[in-house]
Amino acid sequence: MLMNMKDLLGVAYKNKFAVGSFNVANSEFVRVVIDSAEEKNAPAIIQIHPNEVELVGDEFVAYVREKCRNAKVPMAIHLDHGSSVNDVMRAIRNGYTSVMIDASHASFEDNISITKEVVKIAHAVNVSVEAELGTIGSNEGSSEGGADEILYTDVNDAKRFVEETGIDTLAVAIGTSHGQYKHAGKPELKLDLLEEINKMVGIPLVLHGGSDNKDEEISQTYLHGVAKINLSTDMKNAFFQEMRQFLTNQPSAYEPDVIMPSARKAAQEVVMRKMDLFNSTNNAYHYFK
Ligand code: 13P
Ligand code: ZN
Repeated sequence: MLMNMKDLLGVAYKNKFAVGSFNVANSEFVRVVIDSAEEKNAPAIIQIHPNEVELVGDEFVAYVREKCRNAKVPMAIHLDHGSSVNDVMRAIRNGYTSVMIDASHASFEDNISITKEVVKIAHAVNVSVEAELGTIGSNEGSSEGGADEILYTDVNDAKRFVEETGIDTLAVAIGTSHGQYKHAGKPELKLDLLEEINKMVGIPLVLHGGSDNKDEEISQTYLHGVAKINLSTDMKNAFFQEMRQFLTNQPSAYEPDVIMPSARKAAQEVVMRKMDLFNSTNNAYHYFK
């Protein structure tokens, strides 16, 4: 079942669980996410970054839509880190049900004005909008962007931003970074800040950089308003590490139907574990009442 993000996250927010939003850039990952979601009876989101759509081409989204429509669990297709109105228009034309406009590097006023413009366009065609305030960090190797220094989301700015823009979900910076914390070590998330933001804004919050954080902190976030957790690195790492191993052991293998299954299985194990961690497991039934 294909839905928009507002409807998908409204239920999660109310029932205190987070929906995993997983980056895909080929059909293997689409299957990983949907098979995991069906096995876990969990809603899930497939998100595609502008770099990823550049890799696979616009036509790929038609396949993703068909897979999501046929899924037994609620699904949304989301633009991850759109950086311009052009990115947003391309996503809407391709059939995404949700978009992110990330103008978090712009000034506060500019972030408000570009986000407002996107909300006007997207809401006219029932596509939901996520925007970001503050900037999350970036680790080496991730192509999803972020800042060298985390700029934590300001509570009062968040309230004004949500009121003025009319967004459906807000991505907050509370200490996470994209990618793996190779040198810096795992950060401590500012859960008290998250709690304050949640009390102030009253809409579902989004946590980016969901990989490689402490499980005991992640499991606190959905108690304080986080209804969507973005996850890319941990899933991709599992997939490619297994594939690297497989190809080392079988250097003459060349058939995709021989090489892919074990990599897909490794990624699926990670995604299913995350669904448990995010408390989305067994929560698909809420959407069919
Ligand atoms: P990770 O790669 O750290 O899981 O972050 C994913 C993300 O935030 C995509 O927007
Ligand atoms: Zn992100």
